[in-house]
Amino acid sequence: MLIASVFSGLSLSSLSVEIGLAILSIIVVRCVYRIYWHPLAKFPGPAYAACFSLSSAIISVLKKEPQWIKYLAEKYGHDTPIRIQPNMLLFPQPSALKEIYWDPKCNTKSGLYGTGVLGPPHLFTTLSGDEHRELRKALGGPAWTIGSLKNNWEERFDYQVQLLVEKLNEKARTKESVVLSDKVAEFAADIMTMVSFTDPFGFVKNGRDERRILTNWREGLDFFGFVGRFKFFQTHIITLPGIAARLLPKITDETGMGWLMAEANKQVSQRESEMSKGKLQEKPDFLQHCLDARMNGEPLSPLQKRAHVTLLIQAGADTTGTALGSTLRFLVMSPEILKKAQKEIEAADAAGLLSTPVKFEEVRQHLPYFVACIKEGMRLNPPATNLFARVVGPEGKRFGEFFIPPGTEITSQSYVVQRHPKFYAPDPDAFRPERWLVSEKKANEMDAASFVFGMGPRVCIGKDIALMELYKLLPELIRRFQFDLVKAGEYVVAGGVAYNKDFIVKVNTRS
Ligand code: HEM
Repeated sequence: MLIASVFSGLSLSSLSVEIGLAILSIIVVRCVYRIYWHPLAKFPGPAYAACFSLSSAIISVLKKEPQWIKYLAEKYGHDTPIRIQPNMLLFPQPSALKEIYWDPKCNTKSGLYGTGVLGPPHLFTTLSGDEHRELRKALGGPAWTIGSLKNNWEERFDYQVQLLVEKLNEKARTKESVVLSDKVAEFAADIMTMVSFTDPFGFVKNGRDERRILTNWREGLDFFGFVGRFKFFQTHIITLPGIAARLLPKITDETGMGWLMAEANKQVSQRESEMSKGKLQEKPDFLQHCLDARMNGEPLSPLQKRAHVTLLIQAGADTTGTALGSTLRFLVMSPEILKKAQKEIEAADAAGLLSTPVKFEEVRQHLPYFVACIKEGMRLNPPATNLFARVVGPEGKRFGEFFIPPGTEITSQSYVVQRHPKFYAPDPDAFRPERWLVSEKKANEMDAASFVFGMGPRVCIGKDIALMELYKLLPELIRRFQFDLVKAGEYVVAGGVAYNKDFIVKVNTRS
């Protein structure tokens, strides 16, 4: 009896050894193939990245991706494609941006976008370039460009700016410390809910993260980054029955994206019912825009309408919040630059050139140094610094001396491309707004090489909304308050998306 059980134990363990060896051999053969015979084998890059997409997924979860990519560019060169995944090349040079993102033959997005983590497919996650073009035609357009925003939205933005100013005045009176990075992210979240549904959710008014939308978003970023980068998980695990439902937000959730999906559902149904009774929206919001949109003459499907109503909040709340928080942090931590920015505002104020709160156009025309501060803040701390990869079409792609085989995923990344050592010489890592004011030619070149809002047919649809927030809120805050640093906190990148953690100040009003 004893002998039999020993033998069965042995055979069981030898079976597991055999299985283990078989798996190991497959992994070794795969690695050897990927390092030596794969069509991308000729490109430089670390062997662990060439072998496993899991390595870049882990680096993303460790929140070290920008630093890792910068290190790779320093090691392998800033002007050469670097292999950062078995099937992905990263281009760290500004000149590559146009090549990748304006090439109609590379307008299919990579698997990173198609994981389902951001809900049903929408403008941002539609992979096919042709489908995207139709959707973009239906949903983009002049409504979201600066001219229309000035006419239709600026007054409503003014009200939100004033509300935050009042709240900060209260903090100045009570001498409480303020997590300024959170306050400006709440401002941006209110703007997005206002643009989406007309009435903001009240982040600023109530001084809190309503329904934990921002917290929940940030908590989900590691998972978003992991699934987007780890191909095996993307194709074999999350697709298993029941797995996605367990891991992703649900409309029964009381907070976060799940709650937001339920709210979108409710608001779409409510608005459609009002429309059926002939009631028209006085000033159309994005929800109305989605309901009125037509693709080939047909309205969007019920699922598409709901997916797009939540899209702006996903894409535009914390991103703009990060741009606001980072620029403020750079200013507070650079006293000389801050002084120059304050002086510029004071001079414009004294000349009677600024309204209260400041208008977008006044900032654009009369505060060039401040505008340079905003551009510089986003250059160094881009809010969306993801691997925005595109798939090379069936003919492959010639890239200078290189031929990129069909099916390769090619990407740039804003954090590294916006710190290119030659392009931003001699101090690519320094916060120096003056670089934008040296000459019009150089400023235009830097604008053209900026990857903050993406590029090409998939460029950010909310760029002008974000700029309006930045141009209006930041000068108004610097004009009215002195912020004394309590804690600098940090710019955190999780899953390719950035947020600011714990930038804490004491607020004093300026006379
Ligand atoms: C500073 C703030 C922002 C940054 C840095 C940013 C960045 C980006 C980037 C890099 C892309 C392109 C991604 C790609 O190539 O796949 C993008 C797309 C997009 N953004 Fe933004 N964004 C910001 C604010 C906003 C705002 C305020 C909105 C909404 C009003 C918004 C809505 C979108 C949408 C809908 C897309 C997808 C566009 C398409 O694929 O056609 N973003 N954004």
